[in-house]
Amino acid sequence: MSNPISSEQLKNLDAAHHLHPFTNHQSLRASGARIIVRGEGPYIFDSEGHRILDGMAGLWTTSVGYGRRELADAAHAQMLELPFYNTFFKTTHPPVIALSRKIAEIAPANINQVIYGSSGSESNDTAIRLIRHYWALKGQPNRRIIISRKNAYHGSTIAAGSMGGMSHVHQHSYPVYEGFRHVMDPYWYGEAFDGETPEAFGKRAARAIEDEILRCGPENVAAFAAEPVQGAGGVKIPPESYWPEVQKIVDKYGILLLADEVITGFGRLGTWFGSQYYGIRPNFITFAKAATSGYIPLSGLMIDDTIAEALMAHNDDFNHGYTFAGHPVACAVALKNIDIMERERLVSLVTEKTGPSLASMLAKFKDHPLVGEVRSVGMLGAIELVADKKTRRRFANPGRVGLICRDHFFREGFIMRAVFDTMVCAPPLIWTDEHFAEAEAVIKKALDQTLKDVADEVTA
Ligand SMILES: Cc1ncc(COP(=O)(O)O)c(C=O)c1O
Repeated sequence: MSNPISSEQLKNLDAAHHLHPFTNHQSLRASGARIIVRGEGPYIFDSEGHRILDGMAGLWTTSVGYGRRELADAAHAQMLELPFYNTFFKTTHPPVIALSRKIAEIAPANINQVIYGSSGSESNDTAIRLIRHYWALKGQPNRRIIISRKNAYHGSTIAAGSMGGMSHVHQHSYPVYEGFRHVMDPYWYGEAFDGETPEAFGKRAARAIEDEILRCGPENVAAFAAEPVQGAGGVKIPPESYWPEVQKIVDKYGILLLADEVITGFGRLGTWFGSQYYGIRPNFITFAKAATSGYIPLSGLMIDDTIAEALMAHNDDFNHGYTFAGHPVACAVALKNIDIMERERLVSLVTEKTGPSLASMLAKFKDHPLVGEVRSVGMLGAIELVADKKTRRRFANPGRVGLICRDHFFREGFIMRAVFDTMVCAPPLIWTDEHFAEAEAVIKKALDQTLKDVADEVTA
């Protein structure tokens, strides 16, 4: 559809009235925002008519790609039938019942209940409240500390932001809430000692959790919270030894496990949930983003039978909830989205085809002079840029080179996100050979251009 307002006018209006999330507002106003006007399959289109291959699935979100009429039809039909009703006060409606049943079917076997929200942050807040409520119900109200990890991202609300471990997020308004501790993340490439194997490093990173439990006193620790694969922190993929060791530790001290699957949920690793991929048994799983492929906001917190039984054994309210929890239109879209994923086998394809294609495409860049490490699991990948491959020396001013590279990608019609100097991707699950080939050609070009820009800082 042609837009009567010019691109330039839209940029000016945006700058005048719209405050973007996670943005340097001064520099955005100097450059103007890029305006995305349309999406189709794995591509988005900007207001200047460029077609862009979206290697980030919107924001780890549009797994089934853009422009799916079926999802729009599901929303349309539900809006006509029942556009909204709340789920407070002992009421419910068919879409939320059907979705909850479906989620229980695809979730780990001991998880059968869902409490909904509209964003990952909200659902992590729900988790934090429910974790503490659970321990109060169990007569152990001192168990309030939640251990999470440095560089974790759990959202931007005050509680989820406190649970997250990003210092640049904390610098604005945290710590607002006490009761969160952050331990090292399992980032072998960046944190291992010289000569330390991934196996040994994974166990060491897990033991950091045990050390923290002992420092706090196990009787004060409520839960350990983590993303199965740290996403916004730089697609940090834990060594194989990490999660089994973490599971042993939380079991040993009787501590609850919260898996934040806002990125890994709904198929990204080749299983419906990342917990299934790593064989862990969380008591709580948060999800959002790809549950509806981002067509409409919906999130949730799934709870296992232990937590559900404790709640139900208690004859009083859990005083928590959001107006839009279990929104009927969002639930109808999520059901259709899951239906599409099942029909097109998108989750199995991550294991059989798309995941291996991403891994082999990224592997082609491991010898590039700028590249320290490439890594991927399922349809999550990263290319880490360094100034010296041999010593893993970083560039001065972390993030500067990442942005140079990201801008080259963008100019070439491709989106990967820069997490400091690590380029991360989470393509829609519908990519075919053609899209991997297109991405490969752009990445090669953009890495070479970036190398030219920073050649005098790179040790050959
Ligand atoms: C792992 C994880 N948890 C929570 C969130 C917060 O989700 P939202 O932005 O929907 O609040 C994000 C967002 O990227 C995330 O990656």
